[in-house]
Amino acid sequence: MRFTNISTISSHPDEETIAPASPLEMLLGCHARIRHFVQLSRTLAGAEGAAPLEVAEAATAIFRYFSYALPLHQADESDTLFPRLQNALPQGGLVREAADAMIEQHKAIDELVAELLSICTSLTHHPESLPSLERRFEYVTCALEQVFAAHLRLEETVIFPALSDLLTPAQMDEMAREINQRRRPKLTIHFPQ
Ligand SMILES: [Fe+2]
Ligand SMILES: [Fe+2]
Repeated sequence: MRFTNISTISSHPDEETIAPASPLEMLLGCHARIRHFVQLSRTLAGAEGAAPLEVAEAATAIFRYFSYALPLHQADESDTLFPRLQNALPQGGLVREAADAMIEQHKAIDELVAELLSICTSLTHHPESLPSLERRFEYVTCALEQVFAAHLRLEETVIFPALSDLLTPAQMDEMAREINQRRRPKLTIHFPQ
């Protein structure tokens, strides 16, 4: 039974390295990929009877996304966006409270993602264990769906729309540079002795 199209899934984490024009577009592009991979987790969690190779490939794709690309997106928000919002909004207010909540929610997301990564590691090496992991997988997927639904909504409806009023065009350009820099491969050059 083919439960999903693996080829369309496996390419997504690498797209994290291709940067659209503005910081807002980049952040929203990440959100589209988060939704895609949460949906893939939902599909895989209920894919009992799928071919072991497909289970292993989907688990590997989910692992790659949540271990590599999601931390980059969270760093975009925690290390690039949040400090600038803090400077622009030192006092309380709706947007500042939402930004503080965003940082707290990242910690809760990280705990659930750690559990998801553990399950995906098991499935990558032992795809036949899907039935025995199904309950745990369902639980963590359901929790991630709920947490991300609230988290992405908060960012998209309260924080992101405020950026153009709170930050200058120069700050937006700086953010774009930082977001791009974060995705550049780190090259280590070894000089001959
Ligand atoms: Fe976030
Ligand atoms: Fe986000």
